[in-house]
Amino acid sequence: MLRNVTLPTGRRADIAVADGLVRHVGAAVRADETIDCTGYTCLPGAVDMHVHMRGGVQAGKEDWRTGTTSAVAGGVTVVVDQPNTVPPITTPELLRARVREAEERAVCGFAVNAAVVPDADLAGMCRAGAMAFGETFAAPSSYGEGLDAETLRGLFDRIHALEGLVTIHAEEVSGPAPATLADHDRARSGAGEARAVQKIAGLAPAGMQLHFCHLSTAASVRAARGTVEVTPHHLFLSHDNFDPDDTRARVNPPLRDEKTRRDLWSCWDRIDVVASDHAPHTVPEKSVPFETAPSGIPGVETMVPLLMAAVQSGRITLASVIEKTSWKPAAILGIPHAGFEPGDRADYALYPDEITRIDASRLHTKCGWSPFEGLEAVFPEEVIVGGTRAYAHGDLREERPVWYPGRGYLPL
Ligand code: DOR
Ligand code: ZN
Repeated sequence: MLRNVTLPTGRRADIAVADGLVRHVGAAVRADETIDCTGYTCLPGAVDMHVHMRGGVQAGKEDWRTGTTSAVAGGVTVVVDQPNTVPPITTPELLRARVREAEERAVCGFAVNAAVVPDADLAGMCRAGAMAFGETFAAPSSYGEGLDAETLRGLFDRIHALEGLVTIHAEEVSGPAPATLADHDRARSGAGEARAVQKIAGLAPAGMQLHFCHLSTAASVRAARGTVEVTPHHLFLSHDNFDPDDTRARVNPPLRDEKTRRDLWSCWDRIDVVASDHAPHTVPEKSVPFETAPSGIPGVETMVPLLMAAVQSGRITLASVIEKTSWKPAAILGIPHAGFEPGDRADYALYPDEITRIDASRLHTKCGWSPFEGLEAVFPEEVIVGGTRAYAHGDLREERPVWYPGRGYLPL
């Protein structure tokens, strides 16, 4: 039972929950556990549809336990894991094993995507419960090889026949190994990203459901067909904020310059989804010459907190944050809607009014650092998964792993 919830409409109500779902909204009823929401802004739990939870041989970077604890501490109650694990998720057996690993170790809702490579058993993974297909690497990246146009066309046809959603990492890569963040930005340019988006959209059969991951410029957002995702790092960071060869800020697509970053905000209304692309690497792994450093930055815990600070400063509306972090990704993927009506998934995060600053030493990711250090943020004080207090005041309270299979799931 949640008492004294201020709904997005401004109305005050009590929310009764049973079996993970909202039963009743209105006056109080009797309940075993009561969570008083007075003084907090109550948001539906976020669905972060682009995270790399690692685990297995990459468990030194992150695992399901630490990655999902980091998620709930940032108001995210469902994560969608990308399949560029080691080995990648290319068969139903590997997908089922990944789901089992998460069922044992995750603390919140999760889904697992299928890898898109020519020899992958796409139909088998669809039936085994893959959520979406991809991220599909249309350019090489950390733990992903780029696919050429003809290969992509064939794979898109196969995914379309399964009525699947394809998620795409679109970039164009040129030149020698970059030695600085500005070189990296040139080698994987914003203009190249926009060209790749256009070209890839042209390879997909008419009517296919396309989703472009982590677009980093306004031009790419405008060029996209289908749904568009952007990351907090492209919204809040530019390479001008870092030393020229700071490997921590190396990520694909690259951080852009300050002007390009500001322009990305001009498309806020066209952006369907904000997702973190949480891609943890350890400090030792990043402490190598720029040319050989892995790309990727952590961000699942800081995504909604950064956006909530932007709400408090009047830059964006609360409604737009709810839409882009919870309702739209859930609708795109077919995950039950979290909200304030009977039948809704009872996942929430309670945010106080005070703005704080990000302090990496207080985050829960195993990788132990954040490129957002010192930025303004509002962290949730309590997070509710399936009607139960999963996280409160810095600590995990209860594990609530719930698997969300994709639409093609056929139980064995
Ligand atoms: O920077 C990135 N890191 N971009 C990706 O597409 C993959 C990711 C990773 O898995 O490390
Ligand atoms: Zn990617």
